[in-house]
Amino acid sequence: MASKDAVVGVGIIGLGGASGAMIPKFAKNPHFKLAAAGDIDKEILGRFKKDHPDAEVYEDAAGLVASKSVDLVYIATPNNFHTEHARMALEAKKHVLIEKPMTIDIEGSQAMIATAKRNGVLLGVNVKHSFEPRVLRLRQMARDGELGRLRMINHWRFQDWLYRPRTPEELTPEPGGGILWRQGPHQFDIIRTIAGGMVRSLRGTADTWDPARRVPGAHAAFLDFEDGTLATAVYSGYDHFDTRELVESGYTPSAAQHAAARRELREAPNPEWEGNAAREERYGGSRRGGPGGSGDAAAAPPSMGWIMGGPMIVSFDKGDVRLTRAGLTVYGDEEISEIPLGVKGEDGRDGRINTYYEAIAHDRPLPADGSWGMATLEVLLSIERSGRERKEIFLEHQTPTVD
Ligand SMILES: NC(=O)c1ccc[n+]([C@@H]2O[C@H](COP(=O)([O-])OP(=O)(O)OC[C@H]3O[C@@H](n4cnc5c(N)ncnc54)[C@H](O)[C@@H]3O)[C@@H](O)[C@H]2O)c1
Repeated sequence: MASKDAVVGVGIIGLGGASGAMIPKFAKNPHFKLAAAGDIDKEILGRFKKDHPDAEVYEDAAGLVASKSVDLVYIATPNNFHTEHARMALEAKKHVLIEKPMTIDIEGSQAMIATAKRNGVLLGVNVKHSFEPRVLRLRQMARDGELGRLRMINHWRFQDWLYRPRTPEELTPEPGGGILWRQGPHQFDIIRTIAGGMVRSLRGTADTWDPARRVPGAHAAFLDFEDGTLATAVYSGYDHFDTRELVESGYTPSAAQHAAARRELREAPNPEWEGNAAREERYGGSRRGGPGGSGDAAAAPPSMGWIMGGPMIVSFDKGDVRLTRAGLTVYGDEEISEIPLGVKGEDGRDGRINTYYEAIAHDRPLPADGSWGMATLEVLLSIERSGRERKEIFLEHQTPTVD
């Protein structure tokens, strides 16, 4: 559809938490039309239809991928369905935007890439935070050398992920469940984006500290890039410390806010509570605030977005750079300076879908395509393996950024 006036019809499979944040972005972008949604949960499908009466709705993925109104299928089903849903959409000759991680094994991602190629359609991964303006500006600095050579990236995030209501699929100890598979894709994709993509080797581990939650709830890794850039990444979802305290001035949790997710889970009235609460975080659910939700947005603590959940310091020859609410702060050789980025309500989701539109309508190269997604997937698999074998792992499927 190479045309400057093309409007891309979007079909969504899976109306969970991920879709709840993406739907408002597609809805307000003039290059896209919300054409259809599919979900096996009829009630959630009904909530979507109420908000988007012109869109088609389907109770299975097969019906949606066959729709003539759909040009691009956004796949936001649980990780273990990604391979199958992508295969169906690609074989129906639809472009695909797939949630992270694109799938859970290298073979599955290679098959997905080959199927897209054979059908002459595009495959992109929804690593939205790697398109965040602050992250892209850091990539530009690394590429153009305005502060000299990129040397080191250090990122920490501590939060409550493991104790918020989780689905059985998120709590499976198999690949696809646990914090490395759910939050790691963002963290390692951002780091790869800034450093140019090519991880040479890594040492890492993902660990399960609470047998009652069954899955790794924390990970740590040391990444060595081909050009010698180093990165460390630490993540804990054990709901003790919250790294926003290190990032947001004035953010100090009250006694009521501290470990609130653990407390809510501990005080659950029955074993079904967690599954029901997770469902209420899906499209239109009572535990969701803001667009796509019926919950009370004011009740949730204000968020500055995923990338402001913990400190990230990016070090160059001539300065350290820190992310701030307004943009970037550069601590240089002689002075401290600000780079305002004037984000105006836009986040990485806007950048992700705009670059996808450029690829569909104007044949521009697609950043974060299937091979990029496979390279981030390889990082996750290698951290698991490194932890198991307690040794450094050398990577084989890395790919550079599209700059
Ligand atoms: N929750 C988030 O905020 C978030 C953010 C970014 C990315 N993601 C990613 O998005 C994907 C989905 O995560 P989620 O948290 O939204 O999941 P979820 O479990 O909350 O929602 C998944 C939705 O898919 C539907 N579904 C399940 N099987 C289906 C099938 N066979 N056919 C059609 N619909 C089906 C479910 O009914 C549900 O509405 C994952 O890959 C996850 O890593 C999630």
